[in-house]
Amino acid sequence: MSCTVAIGAQWGDEGKAKMIDYLTRDVDIVVRYQGGANAGHTVVVDDKKFVFHLIPSGILHEDKVCIIGNGVVLDPVELLEEIILLEKKGYDIKDRLLISDSAHFILPYHKTLDSLMENFSDEKIGTTRRGIGPCYSDKCLRIGLRTGDIFDLPTLERRAEAALKIKNLQLENIYGEPPFALDEIMGILLQFKDKAGSMVINTQEYLHNAIKDGKSVLLEGAQGHALDIDHGTYPYVTSSSPTIGGALLGSGLNAFDIDDVIGITKAYVTRVGEGPFPTEADEDDSERLRVNGNEFGATTGRPRRCGWFDLPLVKKAIQINGMNKLAITKLDVLTGFEKIKVCIGYDIKGERVDTICPSKFGKVKPLFIEMDGWNENISKCRSFAELPKNAQDYLNFIEDELNVPITYISVGPGRDFTFKK
Ligand code: GDP
Ligand code: IMO
Ligand code: MG
Repeated sequence: MSCTVAIGAQWGDEGKAKMIDYLTRDVDIVVRYQGGANAGHTVVVDDKKFVFHLIPSGILHEDKVCIIGNGVVLDPVELLEEIILLEKKGYDIKDRLLISDSAHFILPYHKTLDSLMENFSDEKIGTTRRGIGPCYSDKCLRIGLRTGDIFDLPTLERRAEAALKIKNLQLENIYGEPPFALDEIMGILLQFKDKAGSMVINTQEYLHNAIKDGKSVLLEGAQGHALDIDHGTYPYVTSSSPTIGGALLGSGLNAFDIDDVIGITKAYVTRVGEGPFPTEADEDDSERLRVNGNEFGATTGRPRRCGWFDLPLVKKAIQINGMNKLAITKLDVLTGFEKIKVCIGYDIKGERVDTICPSKFGKVKPLFIEMDGWNENISKCRSFAELPKNAQDYLNFIEDELNVPITYISVGPGRDFTFKK
């Protein structure tokens, strides 16, 4: 019996899905707890690639239950597409995918408003345009529609009409865009009820009972701690809490349920969208990391910005989340670099700081050390001992500085390319 939370320790795309798929072997239940279809979670099994946006990344293990928690903002159209795609590939998931009755629906007007805000703003965030910010805003404004509402259609229709009135006023009067019709919105919700209604339950109660019965649970974070609405590089963040608080809120588990918090981090850093990125590499190195690591967004296809490992950034992730284990992914991508930079601290106007301070983050200068690289192809290594000495030194240095054990190492995208340190 155990409960583990896996959280991105950078700006997302750390290889969380690949690690979740690996860790799912040892648990009974996997829960996505926040975010929506802004996430792009890639799992590669036997050279077949799956990209999940809403469905938990443990779904390929046919004997495991997967839960979309109450903290997720759920695009019903996207979800049905994902389900159909998995079914086409031969995965039977209907009986083992559960959806919280308190998750909020992302509807077409959220996506339209997300895009319009990006287009009109002089201070772009670079969102994924998946309707995330507008949907979480409606949740806070208490005009959101929830999955469990499908069981009382007259009330759902009344509330949809009320929400639409406000949204259409915004669309027409602020942006000069055409309004959405209630029929269209209800059509989407009814289709969700028809195809996925049987999966909608009180998942908080389900999880509580499962843990009482000795089942083990893995909580899957989307995005990363530096995109957290509170602790990230605001305003260049997402609208949810990928951090440990969000894991509890978005699943309904309590703090005493949690045994382990695994921080998942790349062996370097990437970021998509706008916002400060102190260790961003120069054009040549950035391009080399992008090509070696195939660093293009799994949701939007945008090229990811690439840079060097940032110790203060991951130190902050450890501090906020209580990470007691680390998984380092994409070590293989660093192969061939003669020198590998690591940021050991920041300089803010002559003052040395070792952790990130959100209000000053845009102004820091990274302090780098350089370590010797390696040329050997490490994708066939399956133990720490098999890694070249310089790769071992690199990991040992990071581990010593962070003072948290590196428990897992990943040297390739496939399921079998992960080993314990
Ligand atoms: P997530 O959002 O954190 O789940 O990560 P993404 O799926 O968006 O991006 C990670 C990318 O790196 C995917 O294309 C993975 O298949 C790939 N990947 C994961 N781990 C490794 C690794 O150890 N080596 C290499 N070369 N690729 C990896
Ligand atoms: P996974 O789970 C990387 C970024 C966007 C943008 C900001 C806000 O695959 O790691 P949003 O659409 O959430 O309002 O966009 O957050 N972003 C991500 N970056 N990985 C993700 O998810 C992301 N989800 C959102 O690029 O900068
Ligand atoms: Mg991703």
